Amino acid sequence: MQKVRKGVITVAGLGTRFLPATKAMPKEMLPVLDKPVVQYIVEEMAASGITEIIFVTSSQKRAIEDHFDRDRDYEAYLERQGKLDRIQSLIDLNKKVRFFYTRQSEPLGNGHALLCAREFIGDEPFAFSDGDSIIDAKTPVIAQLLDIFYKKKSSIIGVQKIESKEEMQKYGNVYGKPLGKGLYRVSEFREKPTLEHVSPHGLIVGGMRYILTSDIWNILQEQGTGKDGEIWLADAAHTLAKKKKFFAYEYEGEYFDTGNKLALLKTAIHFAEKEGLL
Ligand code: UTP
Repeated sequence: MQKVRKGVITVAGLGTRFLPATKAMPKEMLPVLDKPVVQYIVEEMAASGITEIIFVTSSQKRAIEDHFDRDRDYEAYLERQGKLDRIQSLIDLNKKVRFFYTRQSEPLGNGHALLCAREFIGDEPFAFSDGDSIIDAKTPVIAQLLDIFYKKKSSIIGVQKIESKEEMQKYGNVYGKPLGKGLYRVSEFREKPTLEHVSPHGLIVGGMRYILTSDIWNILQEQGTGKDGEIWLADAAHTLAKKKKFFAYEYEGEYFDTGNKLALLKTAIHFAEKEGLL
C-alpha cells in the first residue's frame, strides 16, 4: 500500500463569525494561547508522517503562508535576542513538511475547496482536515486513522460518540455497522438530522479528519451543490460509502471547535489548564 504523504487543509472560508477580527486576518490564524489554530492541525499532520501539505486558501489568507515560511532575517534577530526558541516549533515543522498553496476563488463549500487540491494530490490517498478543529489526543488522530487505513485500504473518517440525541442534531451524523474496537463500516452520512433520525450508535463528525482514496475525486467533481448551494465533502463521502468500503473510527482524543467565539475561548481555557496557567 502506498504510503500517505500528502495532506489537504482547507482554510478558504470567510470566518464571518469573528468579524471584525477576521476582516484582514484569517480566522485559522486566531491564537489558542500563543499558537494559531491552524498550527495545531499542521503539527498533527506532521506528527502523523505527512510530509507535504497543501492549503486551500483565499484572498486575505496570506498570513498563513508567511507563518509557515522561514524568515532568515527575523530568525537571526531573534537569535541575537536569545528568543529563537519561541519560534523553534515552526522551524522544526519547516524541516519536516513542504508547504503548498492553492486558491479557492469563491467559498462554495468544503468539498469545492478540496477539489481545488485535486491536481496536487493526483491518484494518491491523502489526509484531509478542515482548518478550524483541534483534537487534543495522545496519538495524533491522523496517525490513528492511518494505522487502520493501512490495514483496511479504504477511506476512513474520524468520529466521536456522544450520548445526547439533542446534541447530535447539531452535527453531521454517521451511520453504519459496528465492527468492534471503535471501528464501523459506514453506510450513510446525514447532516444535522432530526431527533428521530440521529445515528443509533451516537456517531458524529466532531473535527473533520479523513483519510481518502482517489475514488473521492470523480464523485466530488460530478456531485453538484447540496445544502445552502454549497458542495459538501460529507455528501461525496456518503456516495462513496454506498459504492465502496468506507470506515469510521472512534478516535481517542478530545475535539475542540474553534469556529465561534465561545468555542475558541473554551479551547484556550483547556490548553491553559493543560499548561498549568490556570
Ligand atoms: P466554516 O463553514 O466553519 O466557516 O468552515 P467559515 O466560512 O470559515 O466561517 P463563518 O461561518 O463565516 O464564520 C470550516 C472550514 O472549512 C473551510 C474554512 O476556511 C474552515 O477552515 N472552508 C469552508 C473552505 O475552505 N471553503 C469553503 O467554501 C467553506
